Amino acid sequence: MSFYFIIKSLHSGFRYIVFLLLIIAIIQSILGWLGKKPFTAINQKVNLFTLISAHTQLLIGIVLCFLSPYVQWNSETMKNATTRYFTVEHWVMMVVAITLITIGYSKSKKKATSEGKFKTVSIFYTLAFVLIVITILAGHLPLLGSTK
Ligand code: HEM
Repeated sequence: MSFYFIIKSLHSGFRYIVFLLLIIAIIQSILGWLGKKPFTAINQKVNLFTLISAHTQLLIGIVLCFLSPYVQWNSETMKNATTRYFTVEHWVMMVVAITLITIGYSKSKKKATSEGKFKTVSIFYTLAFVLIVITILAGHLPLLGSTK
């Protein structure tokens, strides 16, 4: 079992933690926003753990870039859909999504009202989630499960 295989499996599996936390954070924020609920310490923790999971996935992804045979810079990179996807498209889109989560988290922390906190996370985390799903589908990767 190679180091590449271990890191790839970790990255592939870690997506479920990111998905699950994002979905919980989005649902609690929309319910809190529309239901005019008070923003609790639990809400804050869920938002924080979602941010941490996204950043962890980023770090694993960076390591994977050095190991993956699909990440390569040469004259053929852009001609092949798989190498183009993993060398350029996948990480750029995912970094944008993770940035959206980071901005949403820090903006919501600065909001004074519960409504403002819930609304900010609802918008930014949903945009990030949609972007992540689109990026995975655009790479012809299964949303659930592994390709290779
Ligand atoms: C929330 C963010 C992310 C999610 C949900 C995600 C998800 C995935 C998935 C599902 C795969 C396919 C794994 C498989 O074939 O079994 C993959 C592969 C890959 N990801 Fe990500 N990814 C994310 C962020 C990133 C970032 C930020 C980077 C780089 C900085 C990155 C680099 C890679 C690389 C290089 C591969 C190719 C692995 C291979 O050799 O097959 N990912 N990612």
